[in-house]
Amino acid sequence: MSVEIVEVGPRDGLQNEQTTLRLDDRIWLIERLSQAGLKRIEVGAFVSPQWVPQMANTAELCRKLFVDKKRTSKLRYSVLVPNLRGMSDAIAAGVKEIAVFGACSESFSLKNINCSIAESFSRFQDVIKVAKKNKIRVRGYLSTAFGCPYEGKVPFKRVLKLTEKMLDMGVFEVSIGDTIGVASPKQVKELVKPAMRIGGAKKLALHFHDTRGTALANVLSGLELGVKKFDSSVGGLGGCPYAKGASGNLATEDLVYMLTRMGEKTGVNLDTIMSMREPLEKMIGRKLPGRFIQAGLPKSLI
Ligand code: HMG
Ligand code: MG
Repeated sequence: MSVEIVEVGPRDGLQNEQTTLRLDDRIWLIERLSQAGLKRIEVGAFVSPQWVPQMANTAELCRKLFVDKKRTSKLRYSVLVPNLRGMSDAIAAGVKEIAVFGACSESFSLKNINCSIAESFSRFQDVIKVAKKNKIRVRGYLSTAFGCPYEGKVPFKRVLKLTEKMLDMGVFEVSIGDTIGVASPKQVKELVKPAMRIGGAKKLALHFHDTRGTALANVLSGLELGVKKFDSSVGGLGGCPYAKGASGNLATEDLVYMLTRMGEKTGVNLDTIMSMREPLEKMIGRKLPGRFIQAGLPKSLI
């Protein structure tokens, strides 16, 4: 597999939908995505249900998902964990991979997780310590790397410093996030070049929201510099409830389509994703914003 896709629809996608999906529907979504060939799926979040009600019951979801141990041993299901409380809930639910999530701007950090950047990193340190003891893998997210909804521009120097700090703490990769979809391909190059020198392709992922239609162009910029891991959401679901204007993630099938046409392997079956459109739209009660899932492909071009 030449490009690795981290499917974040069941978490980043659903956390920003008006309709909270029933547990069985969340499980259907995750299982269909794994049948489509997605090997890494972010399935939920151990956050406060007061803050993000759409992610409530993630513990029960995990317990149900992990019943079939044979199947799940080939898949990597991860969850967001903001603090030690979330960590102990994740351990109890049998989770093997988590993600801590921090920000590159103070105001967003406060709005999203109710603490400063420094405080959040101190919490991550505690979480990572417990995770390591329990043989749990930890991914790191850095939000607002290309711009903050409250502060505007974010200096790349800060993003790079925080990337280095997260890696030093022991996360296996950092996903650099354009939370509100403001990045341009030129900016991506400016940030990714030095970021690749810090961690290399193995430790760097890019997470684009497609708010202003630049996500695929931004992926291309990253690819040209050797980035091999990208986050996306089926159908273009997604956003962040604490970043006004943060609409959907880059759609998984749009990403897969572009990569496949460029000769890259993703292991994802587009027909299976296409078959999800109708039931998923019914569940969320709106049309999915992804382009490929709406347009399909004429038989003559398959
Ligand atoms: P807080 O209110 O500061 O927490 O929230 P607290 O420690 O003061 O505790 C208050 C209450 O919450 C207590 O309950 C705790 O037990 C409970 P009480 O005693 O009042 O009954 N609590 C919890 N409950 C469940 N799970 C927990 C937990 N922790 C405390 N883990 C907190 C702090 C971090 C919990 C809160 O701010 C929160 O849940 N934030 C989550 C926000 C979120 O999920 N945002 C979206 C994900 S980030 C994102 O989308 C960006 C990303 O996609 C990348 C990108 O696009 O850039 C990753
Ligand atoms: Mg996001």
